[in-house]
Amino acid sequence: MAKEKQSVRLEHVSKIYQDPKTGKDFYAVQDANLMMEPGSFTCLLGPSGCGKTTILRMIAGFESPDEGEIFMGEVPINKLTPNKRDTAMVFQSYALLPHTTFLTTLPMALSCAN
Ligand SMILES: Nc1ncnc2c1ncn2[C@@H]1O[C@H](COP(=O)(O)OP(=O)(O)OP(=O)(O)O)[C@@H](O)[C@H]1O
Ligand SMILES: [Mg+2]
Repeated sequence: MAKEKQSVRLEHVSKIYQDPKTGKDFYAVQDANLMMEPGSFTCLLGPSGCGKTTILRMIAGFESPDEGEIFMGEVPINKLTPNKRDTAMVFQSYALLPHTTFLTTLPMALSCAN
């Protein structure tokens, strides 16, 4: 059965990290609001360090927002572990799968999920 496509929505999402050099807290992402329509294709553009990967990691569930809520459809997903979300993420570096290509890596999550 075909899965229904869901929207992804960020409402006032922030993530605070600690600067390893100074020990001070800072906003890696501050008050992000974003609506991604079902079936749409979205690019996050911005300078290095502006929080793109942090946003992706929060959507995939590898990081938890310190403020705000992420929704899939109308369901809040902040408390769901990565395996309970219908998401897949390809990491920025080749750290995990150095032997594969883009074309074999990208569909891997989909083929695992049949
Ligand atoms: N685990 C962490 N602990 C502390 N600071 C972090 C951590 N992960 C990321 N940061 C910092 O948070 C900020 C946002 O990082 P992020 O990786 O989301 O940026 P980015 O937009 O993806 O950058 P790039 O274009 O270089 O990939 C940066 O200042 C980064 O150094
Ligand atoms: Mg990044």
